This record gives sequence, C-alpha cells and structure tokens, in this order.
Amino acid sequence: MTKPLRIAMIGYGFMGKAHSNAYRKLAHFFPELEHRPELTVLCARNREKAEEFARTWSYAEVETDWRKVVERDDIDAIDICSPNHTHVELAIAAAANGKWLMCEKPLAMNVEEAERMTQAVEEAGIPNMVWFNYRRVPAIALARQIVDEQRIGRPFHYRATYLQDWTIAEDVPQGGAALWRLDVDVAGSGVTGDLLAHSIDTAMWLNGPITRVVADTETFVKERMHQETGKMQPVGIDDACMFLARFANGSMGTFESTRYARGRKNFNTFELNGADGSVHFDLEDPQYIDFFEHTRPATGDKVEDHLTGWRRIHVTNFEHPYMDRWWVPGCTVGYEHTFIHALADFLKGVESGTPAQPDFRNALQTQRVCDAVLASARSRGWVDTGVESTQPVAAV
Ligand SMILES: NC(=O)c1ccc[n+]([C@@H]2O[C@H](COP(=O)([O-])OP(=O)(O)OC[C@H]3O[C@@H](n4cnc5c(N)ncnc54)[C@H](O)[C@@H]3O)[C@@H](O)[C@H]2O)c1
Repeated sequence: MTKPLRIAMIGYGFMGKAHSNAYRKLAHFFPELEHRPELTVLCARNREKAEEFARTWSYAEVETDWRKVVERDDIDAIDICSPNHTHVELAIAAAANGKWLMCEKPLAMNVEEAERMTQAVEEAGIPNMVWFNYRRVPAIALARQIVDEQRIGRPFHYRATYLQDWTIAEDVPQGGAALWRLDVDVAGSGVTGDLLAHSIDTAMWLNGPITRVVADTETFVKERMHQETGKMQPVGIDDACMFLARFANGSMGTFESTRYARGRKNFNTFELNGADGSVHFDLEDPQYIDFFEHTRPATGDKVEDHLTGWRRIHVTNFEHPYMDRWWVPGCTVGYEHTFIHALADFLKGVESGTPAQPDFRNALQTQRVCDAVLASARSRGWVDTGVESTQPVAAV
C-alpha cells in the first residue's frame, strides 16, 4: 500500500530543481517504497518566479512565507533548499510542528546552530536527513564497499581536493540572489562550508572520524561590492582553504579547496591509501573508481609482478551500488541520480526503522570539523574537532 508524502520545498534554485527532479522520478525507479512524494507547496520570497517554477514542476501551490508553510496540516515534510543562514530557524520551526526534515548541506552556519537543530529533530522524534548526495554516487558507494570488505587494509593516507574557478574576477559582487555564497552573513563561510563540507562528509564516511586539524585559509579579494547595499564591503568568506587532518584510525589526511583554480569546475577528488590497496575517485569522471590491489599470496611477503597496476572499474554493472535500478551495464548515470538515491535511502530508512545516514546528528559531526578548520586558520595551531563517533557510520 502506498502513502502520500506531502512535500513543501523552500527555495527553487539549483537544489530546488535537483530535488524536484528526484521527487518526480522516485516512484518510477524505486517502486517498492511505500511513500509517494507529492509536490504540495513551493515556498520562496519572489511569488512570480516561484509560480513559474511551480508550473514547470507541477507544484500544487505557491507560498511566500515559510512560517505559514511549516504550520500547515496538509504538509508532511519540509525540504530546505534555501541559503545556509535560513536553515536553523526553518528547521527548528518545522520540527516543532512535527514535520519530517530534509535539509541541504552544510547543515548550519556553525556548530552552535547545528546542535540546536539536532536537538530539535531528536526531541520531536521526526525523520531527518541532510543531502550529502555524493555518498550516493555509485562509484563512491563502491569505494565504501571496498573499504568495508577490508581490501584497503591499514589506512595510511587520505587526500581530498575540491576545486572550482568561478569567483576570480575582482568585480564579481557579493550577496544577493545569485552570489549569496560570497556573503559570510548568509553562507557562514566560503569554501569550507560549501565545498569542504562535502569532502569531509565523504572522508569520514570512508575513513572514520577526523579528530584534529590544522588549517590555513585565504581571501584573495578583500573587498567586493555588496549587491544589496551597493557599497564596497569587506569579504568575510574563505576563498581557499587547505588543512591537514588526523583520523581516529591513525591515518593522515590532506584537504584542499578553492574557487580560484582556473579550469577546475567541480573537481572533487579523493584517494585513500592503505597497506593492501588504494582507491581513487574524480567527480569529473564520476562513473569510474580506480582501485589498486596489493596482492597477497597464501604465504610469505606480499608481491607485485609485471601485471600489477591500477584497475579502472566502470561502475555501471547490475552488481554495483544503485545500478540495478537504471540501465543496462555500460550505460552511465549522472549527478541528478545522486539525489534520487539519497531520497530513496532516506525513505527506505524510515520504512525499515533503520534511519539512513547522514541524519542531522551525523551532519553535526561534519559541522564540527568545519568549525575546527576555521578556528585553526584563525589560531594558526592544531584544533581538536570533538567529533563524537569512533567508528565509520553505517553504509546507509
Ligand atoms: N548537495 C549539494 O551538492 C548542494 C549543491 C548546491 C547547493 N547546496 C546547498 O543548497 C542550499 C541552496 O543552494 P542553491 O545552490 O540551491 O542556491 P540558489 O541560490 O540556487 O537557490 C536558493 C533559493 O532559496 C530562495 N531563498 C533565499 N532566501 C530565502 C528565504 N529567506 N525564504 C525562502 N526562500 C529563500 C531563493 O529564492 C532561491 O530560490 C544551500 O544550503 C547550499 O549550500 C547543496
């Protein structure tokens, strides 16, 4: 038997589109799920633009005040796709009204907000999730499977980069609808919360908790015109961030992120090196995972021979994560599918009674690392993250 899941989505931008697509496709590719998303309300401040989006995606209604939306009896779940500074108030109000919550990353502007949000959803006892969608790239999920199968052995190194190139010109303004990511009061931070939050989530999912960090950040353009005031204002975000990390399992990590890497558009990569093998991933080539296996003979020392080398696995076979839902082997899926997978995992978690990860509490751990990174860049020393868990979280 199917149950309607009446959704109110807050925001119609990039993520509004990605999530609406996921709601529309879910039942076709995951028909066994009981819950059937219904696009009940689209909420955004600009009614005209919201109505245009609602028509395109067939939302039943438009609302411009999210406070009214979270109180409506005909809404089951709130999906937060608005800029970071709106997450805390929205989530706490939605939780107080018993709504399920699906929130975009980063969970919050800082740990203090993320703790209050986590407390709110836990006290309300409502299903909750954060859209760290890269865990749902089939190749990254396969990397997790490779780790779970203990094919990496004792981990030594984790290396992540997340590079883009879209804010280099000095005359790019900050703030306003399209450029809120450059305004620290709306975004909370620069690349740390926007890009490294993804890298940190993936890293802790694959390699366990990050316990301490030392970081450096740079703001290359110190002042930009603010679109809302029309005045030159100091830039408060980090344009670039590099940090060293220590993991609870004893391995070492390096993380680098910038919006100033000419030619890099969404260059999200990682590599994990262990005693028995390595995995490498690059989001600009997302259907592949590279795996190196250090062969282990029945007795004696490990050996390599003239055919030893990296294996490039095209992650499109039915036995690969999520791929039995899509096309025949060899046919790829893309970015938009990660949101469908995230939604399917979330609902499967609710229906089975084993909540999917990452939920708010799990995303709070990533927020702790982000805050520790920014604190370290200010203090110029190592900072303990205070991340709670001592084990990698469950796969789904
Ligand atoms: N998971 C991912 O890979 C990913 C990718 C991009 C963005 N995000 C996150 O998603 C969120 C939204 O980012 P985006 O790229 O979609 O932004 P966007 O600028 O494309 O869209 C933001 C939307 O929020 C609306 N909005 C702004 N303030 C609002 C308010 N006070 N009340 C109601 N609506 C409001 C805007 O009108 C717009 O529709 C951010 O938290 C961002 O970090 C996640």
